[in-house]
Amino acid sequence: MQKKDKTRRKVLIGLTSAVGLSGLPFAATPFIAAWNPSAKAKAAGAAVKLDVSKMQYGQQIQVAWRKQPVFIVRHTEKSLAGLSNVTSKLLDPNSDQISEPYKGLHSSRSKNPEYSVMSGVCTHLGCAPKYFPELEPKPWDATWSGGFFCPCHGSMFDIVGRVYKGVPAASNLLVPPHMFEGSILTIGEDKEI
Ligand code: FES
Repeated sequence: MQKKDKTRRKVLIGLTSAVGLSGLPFAATPFIAAWNPSAKAKAAGAAVKLDVSKMQYGQQIQVAWRKQPVFIVRHTEKSLAGLSNVTSKLLDPNSDQISEPYKGLHSSRSKNPEYSVMSGVCTHLGCAPKYFPELEPKPWDATWSGGFFCPCHGSMFDIVGRVYKGVPAASNLLVPPHMFEGSILTIGEDKEI
């Protein structure tokens, strides 16, 4: 067991974005530690664990699972309350058109109402959407309510990864299986499904 632990590499996952939301003070947290499985286990698609308790409200981080980016966002109550303001702009607000593991559980689309966990791969042609949490006019949307914008062809997603109508991407960002044990998030495994 000890030997197995030693083979695990403790890696630092850089924050892809760290932005205060709606004027919230933001104390920079430069890195979040994740404990990745061995290379062999990784190749087999092993789960990735990380402690999300140090994330700031409104912050987005990125980790790799199965060599693909996964976005995690920690929401404020205010930002979640604002989700209803964009519903009419969304193509599939209830994720009826995709297979979603935690559909209807929380507005965050995850197992935890405070965090969203979603694929960081644009559902159009696979680029990486960027996180823009600010509620302010943007070049791509004069009434931007915060969320993700894909720079490749202009697809827009809200802060929980739901796609807008009239953009190239045709479906919401996918939600991987995950679970929370306290503040420890495991991506790629859920003992309940
Ligand atoms: S790949 Fe994202 S909009 Fe085309």
